[in-house]
Amino acid sequence: MRDMGTIRNIVILTGAGISAESGIDTFRAEGGLWEQHRIEDVATPEAFERDPDLVLRFYDMRRESIQTKEPNAAHLALARLDREWAGELLIVTQNVDDLHERAGAQRVLHMHGEHLNAWCTDCDARSRWTGPLKQRPACPGCGARALRPDVVWFGEMPYGMDKIYSALRTADLFVSIGTSGAVYPAAGFVRDARELGAATLELNLERSQGSGWFDESRLGQASELVPAWVDELLAPR
Ligand code: APR
Repeated sequence: MRDMGTIRNIVILTGAGISAESGIDTFRAEGGLWEQHRIEDVATPEAFERDPDLVLRFYDMRRESIQTKEPNAAHLALARLDREWAGELLIVTQNVDDLHERAGAQRVLHMHGEHLNAWCTDCDARSRWTGPLKQRPACPGCGARALRPDVVWFGEMPYGMDKIYSALRTADLFVSIGTSGAVYPAAGFVRDARELGAATLELNLERSQGSGWFDESRLGQASELVPAWVDELLAPR
């Protein structure tokens, strides 16, 4: 691993594993979300066209549930890093919960969208949304009854790719936390970061699918690994 003293610009990728200890189900674990629901029933544009009630009900339940959860020690540690890190930092999250923000992090990019946003497919506006969508409420901007969850479904383009790649181009360190490495393009960031010259570190419960691409893998619970890593990084040198 590169000498910590030479690290200035950091890109962090987070996935469902960082929110697992807050009580939010991951996707690919035994009994995880994609074992309880078929992706093609609830997380594609085709599913929404075929059965919008089912899809809206699924996201209404998830939206309600995440609002009862709290950030854990891993989210809090990243928020501390965000506050105290003088160099560039970008927390790219695949998570659609708001636990990074509720922990206090600001430099966060939701590449798969956000549960607490509704997107009007008529006027294209995004609105903060905490209640249900199944009753087809009117868009606060244009009044159309065309709101959908502002989450990126399979087959749709993730958000913020230009910003992510420009951060990867100048990153000295790429850190992946709590993600299985099963879904692209996020799963490819480690290779891109490496090719662009960054050191790469994985913090995960188990080896991810792309584990071999990381310079170092630390295995364990995010609530322990992440605060310890942040302490190391912020320790006076
Ligand atoms: N601490 C650290 N890692 C954990 C913990 C924990 N407490 N609990 C689980 N993990 C790890 C798992 O071992 C697994 O490797 O987190 C990873 C979660 O993987 P997934 O369930 O596949 O979630 P994620 O990688 O975020 O999924 C990517 O797939 O369907 C989608 O759009 C959805 O953004 C999501 C994307």
